Amino acid sequence: MASTSRLSGFYKVSVRERRELVAAATGISADEIGAALVGGGLDADSADKFVENVLGCYALPFAVALNVRVNDRDYIAPMVVEEPSVVAAASSAAKMVRDGGGFKAEVDAPLMITQIQLVGVHDRDAATRAILAEKAAICDMADRAMPGLVSRGGGARDIEVRKLTPLHPVPGANEMLVVHVVIDCRDAMGANLVNNAAEAVADRLAQLAKATIGLRILTNLCDKRCVRVRCRVPASALATESMDGSRVIDGIVNASAFAEADPYRAATHNKGIMNGIDAVVIATGNDWRAVEAGAHAFAARSGQYSPLAVWRREGDELLGMLQLPLALGTVGGTLRVHPAARMALRLSNVESASELAMVAASVGLCSNLAAVRALGTEGIQRGHMALHARSVALAAGAQGHDVERVALMIVEARDITLEGAKRALATISAAVTTDGPRPNASE
Ligand code: MEV
Repeated sequence: MASTSRLSGFYKVSVRERRELVAAATGISADEIGAALVGGGLDADSADKFVENVLGCYALPFAVALNVRVNDRDYIAPMVVEEPSVVAAASSAAKMVRDGGGFKAEVDAPLMITQIQLVGVHDRDAATRAILAEKAAICDMADRAMPGLVSRGGGARDIEVRKLTPLHPVPGANEMLVVHVVIDCRDAMGANLVNNAAEAVADRLAQLAKATIGLRILTNLCDKRCVRVRCRVPASALATESMDGSRVIDGIVNASAFAEADPYRAATHNKGIMNGIDAVVIATGNDWRAVEAGAHAFAARSGQYSPLAVWRREGDELLGMLQLPLALGTVGGTLRVHPAARMALRLSNVESASELAMVAASVGLCSNLAAVRALGTEGIQRGHMALHARSVALAAGAQGHDVERVALMIVEARDITLEGAKRALATISAAVTTDGPRPNASE
């Protein structure tokens, strides 16, 4: 945990000063933070060992969400994201939640499921009985394929058998069984471990079922590895310039009702949640495609695609609840080889993958709160466009303090375009030529 995640005025100071503030709160020195992020935290030679046909690296902004408090502990949450306003919105919503006591989070044991498909099973009941009778032996066989995990306290925990019927006739595969091996992955995300285990037990399962082996791979719908986050926000913390907090609660509850009734809205509502979650997942070197796949499959589990987070009024408080499967690792994978991901993990100060999941989910609920609060009140565009204006100012060539100046000018002129920004920059430059040099123009 960080000594505090409440770093007032953080956004106003320079990058160097921000590193120093984070250093004071986390104990990681400003120089270490800077060194881990040089060139996006990865050089081309290292990248060449990750994937094939590498030409170089592609950098994204590395930022931190502030004010995050989960189960009475403070976290500075690392976020890698290119979309303006996501970090600011999450930090500002985290501040509102903090006023209500912070997030309360809980997480399931880190259980992943790996699937072994068996086809051509003539007697599926007999095959199911034979497999379940050998549950312990199959778990032992899976454990032998992942000795490192077993030595860390993880390993196979259960076997489940499901009968499936293909939706269209498939020669030789109509009589299908799918075996789930449930594996405790401790602090690993676990994809490689559980895929190994699936391959290790498949022959024996096929023998027991008198069947042919089909696919052997994990499921990203890891619904035994869910995280649940709740927050209570007092109306007073939600008020805007033009709306009192109680009306803001009405707006947010209405936004939730819309998402609960309509998959079209639920998709966008969930996109807002994933803005926060993915950013933490990417920063810490985790597999965001796996997280996305699991989240959306879980959102559709009832048969109707639904919101992962819902909002209710309780008296003069807003109650938010988020649940989703979240398979994250704090050991292995990209973390072994990505210096910036390792630093991000140190910065977040979590002690386990489960703790990281609770932080990431809390940031997701922050992102959702910020979005539905804006949508339920003044609309999303005002705040969003103000931040977007900074990117446009940069694209027009503004540097240092001129970025803010140009952004402000194009927002006030309601002309957030590249041409508008170039005109604003030209106006500033002309003023400088007349009035002499300005301070910190390219700081
Ligand atoms: C934009 O990245 C995310 C939102 O569309 C989420 C939402 O509509 O709830 C603002």
